[in-house]
Amino acid sequence: MQTLTVELGERSYPIHIGEGLLGQAELLAPYIGGRQVAVISNATIAPLYLERLTQSLSAYSVVSVVLPDGEAYKNWETLQTIFDGLLSARLDRRATLIALGGGVIGDMAGFAAACYQRGVDFIQIPTTLLSQVDSSVGGKTGINHPLGKNMVGAFYQPNAVLIDTATLKSLPPRELSAGLAEVIKYGLICDEPFLTWLEEHMDALRGLDQAALTQAIKRSCEAKAAVVGADERETGVRATLNLGHTFGHAIETHMGYGVWLHGEAVATGTVMALEMSMRLGWITARQRDRGVRLLQRAGLPVVPPDNMTPADFLEHMAIDKKVIDGRLRLVLLRQIGEAVVTDQYPKEVLQATLAADYRAITAPAAVA
Ligand code: NAD
Ligand code: GLY
Repeated sequence: MQTLTVELGERSYPIHIGEGLLGQAELLAPYIGGRQVAVISNATIAPLYLERLTQSLSAYSVVSVVLPDGEAYKNWETLQTIFDGLLSARLDRRATLIALGGGVIGDMAGFAAACYQRGVDFIQIPTTLLSQVDSSVGGKTGINHPLGKNMVGAFYQPNAVLIDTATLKSLPPRELSAGLAEVIKYGLICDEPFLTWLEEHMDALRGLDQAALTQAIKRSCEAKAAVVGADERETGVRATLNLGHTFGHAIETHMGYGVWLHGEAVATGTVMALEMSMRLGWITARQRDRGVRLLQRAGLPVVPPDNMTPADFLEHMAIDKKVIDGRLRLVLLRQIGEAVVTDQYPKEVLQATLAADYRAITAPAAVA
């Protein structure tokens, strides 16, 4: 088992990473204050992993709330279902909520923990690659609004994160690829040597090699923990973690939540950010293509939806959380391994990026 720490003073917490940790819930004992535990999961994950987790929590009074599966359910109605379950089971203020699932469950359970009786203890047990490398760490919680992704929520840090890499064995390959989009993100924004490592290990990762997965998760969590430790509330560097997300959130909102997976939308959004960085003269076409090629090898889409016009993108991007005083800030690459957040770009360059021919740019023959 590997253990990292997210350094946030007295709110610091561990991230335990290893194969088979789901059966070692005693690791969580120091982070469960009272006797009551509520496991929040969904109808896909609960049949696979809920019993094993509940057994290893036999020292506690455990209830579960099983939600419908899908990004389309990350909303007020489902949140209310969580509160219904917690109140029906008479959970008190010393209760601990455990999220058992991917980013959708983690974001909703975390928001419920932030709100229930004005805040109860919270533990993340992420079961998708995306949630293991990104969403379970850092305390962003929330739900979607029909007008915008993740527009309602709270910063609420977990007490601990428990990552069992064996849970990835049951994950559909499309979901594994979606998680790889966020892994590749770390290489692009702050760790060029990690990008090289990913180029060398992409086949092993897609083949579920546990050592390679553990290494990729550890390195991703290290990067995320460092950024969150430096800028918990996203007043600066944390925004760089959103490379590709402004374009990607526009795709998710436009297509309808769940049609494109979050990681898929981020992958295509990352290609658009690479393209814009190139058009600004910050990276070369070869460097852009390096990123595109790796995303393609991860099995990810790299071309925006056919039915999205530049005007559609601009409409959705105007509601992004990085908009300040009407100016849209974008995460772009000064070079591979160095991201910046900026609103200092000519409008025409953004317009040209939105109108670019991504089929031509990303065709296998075009990408070196
Ligand atoms: P998800 O939670 O929808 O999970 C993907 C699918 O895999 C679901 O159908 C789920 O039931 C299933 N699943 C999960 N674990 C499984 C397993 N081990 N075996 C089989 N099936 C399994 O999607 P996701 O990609 O994990 O998360 C995406 C969400 O995370 C989005 O809502 C996004 O906005 C959010 N997110 C949040 C943050 C953050 O910092 N809070 C960061 C990135 C993404
Ligand atoms: N996923 C972006 C963040 O946590 O800040």
